[in-house]
Amino acid sequence: MGDSVRSNREFFTIAEVEAASRRRLPKSLFAALGSGSEGGLTARRNEESFDAVSFRPRAATVYDQRDLRTVVLGREMAFPVLTAPIGKVRIFHPQGAIGGVRATTNAGVVSVVTTSCGHSIEEVGAAAAGGRVWLQIGTWQDRNDAESIIERASSAGYEALVITVDSSVSPNPPAGRPVKIDLYNALNFGPELIVRPRWFYEYARDGMDLSLASVVSSPGSNKKGPLRPTWGDIEWIRDLWGGPVVVKGVITGDDAKRAVQAGASGVIVSNHGGKGLDGVPATFAALPEVVGAVGSETDVLLDGGIRTGGDVVKAVAMGAKATLIGRPFTWGLSVAGEDGVLRVLDIFREGIGRTLGLLGCPSIEAVDRTFVNVDALG
Ligand SMILES: Cc1cc2nc3c(=O)[nH]c(=O)nc-3n(C[C@H](O)[C@H](O)[C@H](O)COP(=O)(O)O)c2cc1C
Repeated sequence: MGDSVRSNREFFTIAEVEAASRRRLPKSLFAALGSGSEGGLTARRNEESFDAVSFRPRAATVYDQRDLRTVVLGREMAFPVLTAPIGKVRIFHPQGAIGGVRATTNAGVVSVVTTSCGHSIEEVGAAAAGGRVWLQIGTWQDRNDAESIIERASSAGYEALVITVDSSVSPNPPAGRPVKIDLYNALNFGPELIVRPRWFYEYARDGMDLSLASVVSSPGSNKKGPLRPTWGDIEWIRDLWGGPVVVKGVITGDDAKRAVQAGASGVIVSNHGGKGLDGVPATFAALPEVVGAVGSETDVLLDGGIRTGGDVVKAVAMGAKATLIGRPFTWGLSVAGEDGVLRVLDIFREGIGRTLGLLGCPSIEAVDRTFVNVDALG
């Protein structure tokens, strides 16, 4: 897809990948990806909150080999980073979720893919080729519609369903930024496209129509259904699906308990990357409350603001089993498709390994609160 793996090796940090994505994408599309809702307070808090915890290394403790493997939903993954579901991710690169799933399978980690990613449930499932992929659902037309999505996910080999519960209405957009990532908006940005010919060429060659390969159940439609999940729906879905259900978007201990009571095998502490209700706490600040409520009985994952291997280690030290990356994954994808995502995952893998080495810690499983000072979290 243009960029070679060799050029990807030039990236050593997520900040560099982000800078390359800024050069590749039309200005407004890049801004829509990065921005939070309204004033962007929560999006900013997500990233900054990791500064409130510092490391507490063990000196003169040398482990040449560090074991990064962890177990999530009872199965091993190579290191504790999953890619997060991103609506219409195909607009950032024609490979979209397919490139993402190939990269996560290659890296031995997990993709969480949304029903509105721009490729069909079946296409993405097939691309996973034995790798681990979870399907994220946020809305459906009615229960028949939900049933059909669940059946398709089951036939296509998805391991788990992720139900997003933090988007009961659409949030306010950030001031002065595009409301939605869609074709209408993309075309309104003609002047921006002239200076981003490569993105536009690939977008045009991909058909420019994200609704074509939409995965929502009514063929040819990419409209969101009117129904958004409540706790009763989660129990119903869990029974219908039979496999693991993960609830995404809890930031309080009470809601985490409700999720577990409804049958969730895991919860994702998430505030939609600061794209939902602006003014809620950073996810990292909310993590201790959720871990305290359900950490002993279920897998607690976290997303929001994870930008370095050190951030991942801090999240694990505070009780997360693993973390998800939304924007870093999408920046990598936009730069070089599957290869770009793979490079992003490598940056995290290398960063986690280096952090463990410098901490004097033999494995990610051995990371606990004794490796951090909690200075001013929350
Ligand atoms: C452009 C964009 C689209 C998103 N679309 C979805 C979605 O369709 N479903 C969902 O559950 N979360 C969605 N999210 C939230 C991500 O899954 C994830 O929670 C968030 O990006 C994590 O924060 P980070 O980007 O700082 O890593 C989206 C986030 C972004 C930035």
